[in-house]
Amino acid sequence: MRYGVFSDVHGNYEALKAVLDFYRKNAVENFVCCGDIVGYGPQPSECVEALRGIKGLTAVLGNHDAAVVGRMDVKWFNANAAWAIEFARKNLSGEALDFIARLPERAETAEFTVVHGSPRKPLTEYLLNETQFADNVKGWTTSPCFIGHSHMPMFFRQKEGIPAVNFMLSMDRVVIPEGPVMFNPGSVGQPRDGDPRASCGIYDPARRLFDHFKVFYDVGATQRRMSDLKMPGMLAERLSYGF
Ligand SMILES: [Fe+2]
Ligand SMILES: [Fe+2]
Repeated sequence: MRYGVFSDVHGNYEALKAVLDFYRKNAVENFVCCGDIVGYGPQPSECVEALRGIKGLTAVLGNHDAAVVGRMDVKWFNANAAWAIEFARKNLSGEALDFIARLPERAETAEFTVVHGSPRKPLTEYLLNETQFADNVKGWTTSPCFIGHSHMPMFFRQKEGIPAVNFMLSMDRVVIPEGPVMFNPGSVGQPRDGDPRASCGIYDPARRLFDHFKVFYDVGATQRRMSDLKMPGMLAERLSYGF
């Protein structure tokens, strides 16, 4: 059984469609979503509906999701992010809000663990370096641990007892070593790795492989929707550059 691992969809339905289509073409039928389904993007409702319809999805709550359902104060977000959170709240149906409100902050199965930010601070920590990884190797048991939140495709591991971090590029394949490892598949809907394509991964527990991919989508279509909705211009512009 292989898993499509993705994160930070952020209401970008064009990007999500492209990623789910990519998974379909690769016969992936099980999925892991590391949170932030909504926020920033123009189609939060379509994104939630698409994920609600997926059987075999393990998903956790992100900080933007938490803010939309009142589990986190909007004061922690910058003005553009807060605008998009309000927009999402107004646009989501009762069922969609209920789906988000029921997402756990952490999920652990026989084959992986998943949180949004980090195991110790699931909604707030941006896990980006070796020290943070070392501080986060305790408190969860099933490796790999999939994370999101930073929007950066990254791989964390212990190398001869020393924590090590690598950025992943499209088509990179990691043979998963023994011991605690973490993967961030990058962001579907608002990549920040300098590559505007949607980010995602495929995890194969039987072969102990994690493959990272970047997928083309219609960035212009998302930007036009954002412009029509008079969303903050910077949120649309950044999608062209992947920052
Ligand atoms: Fe995010
Ligand atoms: Fe986040």
